[in-house]
Amino acid sequence: MESLFSIPDLVMTQDGSYTLYSKDHKVTYHSKYGAIQESNHVFVDSGLLPVLKKQDKISILELGFGTGLNVLLTWKNIVDIDTVHVDYHSFDVYPLPEDLLNACVYEDHLKIPTTISKNILTSDWDKLIEVDSRFTLTKHNKDILEETLPDNYFDIVYFDAFSPESQPELWSISLFEKIHESMTNEAILVTYCAKGEVKRILKKIGFTLESLPGPPGKREMTRATKKL
Ligand SMILES: C[S@@+](CC[C@H](N)C(=O)[O-])C[C@H]1O[C@@H](n2cnc3c(N)ncnc32)[C@H](O)[C@@H]1O
Repeated sequence: MESLFSIPDLVMTQDGSYTLYSKDHKVTYHSKYGAIQESNHVFVDSGLLPVLKKQDKISILELGFGTGLNVLLTWKNIVDIDTVHVDYHSFDVYPLPEDLLNACVYEDHLKIPTTISKNILTSDWDKLIEVDSRFTLTKHNKDILEETLPDNYFDIVYFDAFSPESQPELWSISLFEKIHESMTNEAILVTYCAKGEVKRILKKIGFTLESLPGPPGKREMTRATKKL
């Protein structure tokens, strides 16, 4: 049977961290200006940190898991805060082979203990994993378009799909409506994308939008807040 997934190529980005190039979608998994730099800017600084200031129990939804970089960065940013608990749910329809995950060697850059990074990157899919006492992770090997999400559950959404040009179905009003329903009041969705059409969809659903400065190489990114 013909495979639907071509193994991506490893590519070095300008901050010295690796990303992958998807031959199927003809895009990289992260910015070529810096994978770690982009993930820190868009998902940690603009998503996780503002919510951490308000609450201790945080549930996160991610599309998609990819190299696991956003999970590693999230763990690193809460590890020293005793009172915090994170319940992280990440979806990916095409999990990467272990050798490619290891080749990205983010744990070297991020100085994360190998036991933790191994647990995050290579633990079973579709199973709740206790990464440590403050962090639970469920990696869903599912197509997010076909899944039912819990109502009123997620405090943060890391919307990290491939670009609207390469996967328009993931930037559709129906998926954003489903995600909106799954978010708590005042929850935020962050994405590197600042495309007018995407912002119009988010606004139409009822999100309040902020256009924030983007990471190096990108003028803007988007933060959308659910307000009932
Ligand atoms: C931009 S990459 C994610 C990068 C990732 N957050 C990281 O830090 O490496 C987009 C991911 O979405 C996944 N994906 C594509 N279509 C999907 C779908 N319908 N449901 C779930 N995941 C999907 C891809 O396999 C890919 O790993």
